[in-house]
Amino acid sequence: MRMKKRMNRLLGLAGVLALWTGAAQAAELPRVVRAQGASQLIVDGKPYVIFGGELGNSSAGTEAQADAILPRLAALHVNTVLMPVAWDQLEPREGSYDFRLLDHWIDAARAQHLHLVLLWFGSWKNSFSDYAPAWVKADARRFPRVRGIDGAPLEILSTFGEETLRLDSKAFATLMAHLRAKDRQQIVLMVQVENEVGVLGERRDRSEPANRAFNADVPASLVQALQARRHAMTPELAAHFNPQGRSWKDVFGDAADEIFMAWRYATCIDAVAAAGKEQYALPMYLNAQLPAPQERAGEYPSGGPHPGFQQVYQAVAGHIDFYSPDIYWPEFAYWVQRYQALDNPVFVPEARLEAGPYNALYLYGEARGFGFSPFDVDSLPAPGDGAASSPLLMQVYGALRDLGDMLPTAQADGRTRGLVLHAGSPRPTQTVALGGYLFEGTLSRSWPARTLETQDGAMLVLQSSPDEFYIVGTGLTVNLRRDPDMDARMAGIDSIEELSRHGDTWQTVRRLNGDQSNQGRQLMMDPHNAHVYRVRVHAIER
Ligand code: DGJ
Repeated sequence: MRMKKRMNRLLGLAGVLALWTGAAQAAELPRVVRAQGASQLIVDGKPYVIFGGELGNSSAGTEAQADAILPRLAALHVNTVLMPVAWDQLEPREGSYDFRLLDHWIDAARAQHLHLVLLWFGSWKNSFSDYAPAWVKADARRFPRVRGIDGAPLEILSTFGEETLRLDSKAFATLMAHLRAKDRQQIVLMVQVENEVGVLGERRDRSEPANRAFNADVPASLVQALQARRHAMTPELAAHFNPQGRSWKDVFGDAADEIFMAWRYATCIDAVAAAGKEQYALPMYLNAQLPAPQERAGEYPSGGPHPGFQQVYQAVAGHIDFYSPDIYWPEFAYWVQRYQALDNPVFVPEARLEAGPYNALYLYGEARGFGFSPFDVDSLPAPGDGAASSPLLMQVYGALRDLGDMLPTAQADGRTRGLVLHAGSPRPTQTVALGGYLFEGTLSRSWPARTLETQDGAMLVLQSSPDEFYIVGTGLTVNLRRDPDMDARMAGIDSIEELSRHGDTWQTVRRLNGDQSNQGRQLMMDPHNAHVYRVRVHAIER
């Protein structure tokens, strides 16, 4: 306790010192809100949409990498970079913290007008503990490991290590206190606490203290908290939950090992987050590796905050603001919807880079999310690298950023929709309804052969006035109809323009007519590049 007080005093001093330096701090902290089904990150009083990218795991370990990578990402129209902060680099010797690397990244990001989201790679990163400092890894007595069914230690720190929790929390709190003092302009917007936690290779920790806790009763507070969520329980949890039981096996049946681990990770990570928030209360979230179909706990990280058992975390971890999926599986929309069903704002911190441009349009348009961030973004070729055309993700981000404030405003008003299509998927067309019209997308085909011109297509539709829509997309042909649920009128297209933005004004690059609009009947997008189209429409009596 005395130790904690001393630490707080020290950390408080850092804040006071920063105030002395007179650096201006934005008035309010970033916060995440939900506005009628849309998610918003409020920065400096205004909605801020994250057009993000997560760095590869070995891309943020030197200052030179910041200088080389950040200008490239800014040129790719990324506005926010998700970057790891590694415990072992931050605290190479116990109690001695080195912020030079992080400070350099913050300064370099500011110079590029970029924001950052920090990923705290502390005790756990993808289940394992390789980002823990060497002095932690080398002392398995003080920092015990998870043990397998054969009693052998794994390279995973145990959630039962008291010193592990204390020192991870202390390092994280020191990081947050430093940020509060250093980052007066709020370059850093949010923090992810640990990374894709859970036990890999085993279903649960079988170290001695873990076995003792597993053989004791389930804490009554957990059972009660889950009972309170009974009406909205996920099918996975409901299938196992027996509130009448006492032991972990009685209460959670076959899922006992995994739910026990979820409870342990949630408890520990909540304590780490609480220590950090006490210093600087940025929004904090957890990411998860999602179970593939047919995978068993332990093949994916057992006890991680995936949607099946996320309610255990929600019951325990009051300092975590929300949960986010790392979506590497094909069913992007399915996973987003599962997180929405659990009341999470929509933010995807990791996703497959190749599918990124398409899924981004779904995320901002249909799921009305505030942020998307495909993984390994620094591997994309940047302008000037000699590629024939700019990466599609850059085109999509550029087009969406051109929409400016129109995008978050329309998201919040329910005036956006979006869809994605892939060749070979069971659905050859998809339709969304907006503002009294139906927009039916199909993948672009050549004329007259009618062969597919692309394997993927996607669009975001934004209604700007009763008869005007901005459509950002690629690879689709869009048919427009009047929505029969609204009235019996017939819809038609007045004009289609391909736009580009110059400062505050839109310029018409092309008016799409004749063969390029199927004689005024369809929006025929560029099959390979993303653009902003403005479509003006009318509805007439039959
Ligand atoms: C998920 C992890 O969170 C990332 O750090 C990275 O390892 C990716 N998987 C893919 O390799």
